[in-house]
Amino acid sequence: MSTIHRIAPSILSADFARLGEEVRSVIAGGADWIHFDVMDNHYVPNLTFGPMICSALKPYAVTADGRPVPVDVHLMVQPVDALAQAFAQAGADCISFHPDASSHVHRSVQAIKAAGCKAGLVFNPAAPLDVLDWMIEEIDLICIMSVNPGFGGQSFIESALRKIELARQRIDACGKDIRLEVDGGIKVDNIARAAVAGADTFVAGSAIFGQPDYRRVIDAMRAALKG
Ligand code: DX5
Ligand code: ZN
Repeated sequence: MSTIHRIAPSILSADFARLGEEVRSVIAGGADWIHFDVMDNHYVPNLTFGPMICSALKPYAVTADGRPVPVDVHLMVQPVDALAQAFAQAGADCISFHPDASSHVHRSVQAIKAAGCKAGLVFNPAAPLDVLDWMIEEIDLICIMSVNPGFGGQSFIESALRKIELARQRIDACGKDIRLEVDGGIKVDNIARAAVAGADTFVAGSAIFGQPDYRRVIDAMRAALKG
């Protein structure tokens, strides 16, 4: 299991008129991953960006010294498979989807891995973890939603902490290196509680992009994680 914390700013709350620059700035501020929220106005009641924007941003997902920064694609789309393949071609490093959005979850995961990406499953606030009984060995990331998917800037749902604990138990029992991500309502003042529950990867959109100094927020999150 991994104990290295990763902070994954969601560009859903970035300035869409300056996305490349925003990706560059948040990486300069210390982002470990770039979280890319894909919404289709069908699985969720909002519409964001597609594979062409991912591929346009890919060259920006790199540190000043040339190290690639993983692009973490969170698909909130139904159906899953065609778009997952398009995002694999667009340079995604990890592609996650909601199991309830795919008729054949195992097949969708295998197709993502066959395309050369890491694969993740995302669980809505009211979704059980049961599918992990059959899928945990196949995946690289579990994402626990701590808001209902569709919008940035919502409040953290406390029951997500219990689900993170349950997911952590499953990961530990399985023994595979699987990242446990929490997504939604993460701020400097609650990130440590998510970590104590067992999360190791933290998506944060409005908390970071809503402030003028990205480095300051990310540093404060890391300090909270250390404490
Ligand atoms: C919600 C998205 C989240 C969202 C997080 O559907 O999956 O990634 O952008 O935004 P904040 O951090 O503002 O809750
Ligand atoms: Zn997300």
